[in-house]
Amino acid sequence: MDAIAELVRDFYNRYPFPGYDPRKYSSRADLERQASWYARSLDRLIPASSRILDAGCGTGQFALLLGLKDRRVLGVDFSQASLDKAEHLRRRLRIENTRFQQADLLDLDLPPASFDYVFCNGVLHHTPDPERGFRNIVRTLAPHGKLVVGLYNLFGRLPLKARQRLAALPFVRNNERIRTRLILRQIVYESEDRDKVETWYADQYLHPHESVHTVGQTLRWFRSYGIRYLSSVPCLDLFARHHPGDDLFAPPSRSRLRRCAPALLLRQLGWIFSLDDAGGYYVLVGEKAP
Ligand SMILES: C[S@@+](CC[C@H](N)C(=O)[O-])C[C@H]1O[C@@H](n2cnc3c(N)ncnc32)[C@H](O)[C@@H]1O
Repeated sequence: MDAIAELVRDFYNRYPFPGYDPRKYSSRADLERQASWYARSLDRLIPASSRILDAGCGTGQFALLLGLKDRRVLGVDFSQASLDKAEHLRRRLRIENTRFQQADLLDLDLPPASFDYVFCNGVLHHTPDPERGFRNIVRTLAPHGKLVVGLYNLFGRLPLKARQRLAALPFVRNNERIRTRLILRQIVYESEDRDKVETWYADQYLHPHESVHTVGQTLRWFRSYGIRYLSSVPCLDLFARHHPGDDLFAPPSRSRLRRCAPALLLRQLGWIFSLDDAGGYYVLVGEKAP
């Protein structure tokens, strides 16, 4: 295994992400209640019987949420500590539709064209070869299958990059109050959950490896590997906004012109300010060509 990948795997074995406080999930209903609006809106859109891959599933809450309904869900990750937590929760809530398996996305050995939906949230930018990971997960998608990929944006992550430098200074490193303030910008609603604060802080400020990706680069991967662009969060179109009820899997209504290079650049420059609370994280959605 590549030295970077090994560092990343060890990191997630130490800080399984996003982690969970077991008291928060004593029933299946808790899984739905604690889910983000993003997870809930995807859950609403995916039909019964779908075959779903959560590539880089971490501690598994999303894969388990999707498995509450009549679907077949596989969560894969290379961190055994994360998978152990995921499996523990799966057994406790008796969710039979979700399974977990250890796998490296850069060396993925799953049958081709075997999933209707593939999710890869916040994973590829922690690999030494994101494009290879992208190609591997696309290979597992069936024709017309839907792909959701979340990455750090080159522009949107700039403020966080500046704060990472600040966080490396000894007076911040050794001051829990300042560290907590830094990370609560991103998870303000989780201030009471110490575990989550620690895990998120490590993920955002102590990570051994992360890369950043422009929308143009991700769209180039889409084109190279036969994925048709459908939608994004936030919206790529200037002045448009994504609403939690929007269908992420619907074909785009706007013209390609609005996603031309200068418009995309302007949009992403705006993300320096508007995506700061998300650490510059954005999601693109596409469909595999038949
Ligand atoms: C930031 S976490 C995201 C977890 C989850 N997708 C979520 O959105 O909460 C990144 C996850 O990707 C996994 N990961 C990173 N590189 C990987 C690789 N090459 N193969 C499999 N999993 C990987 C890590 O172990 C970690 O669980």
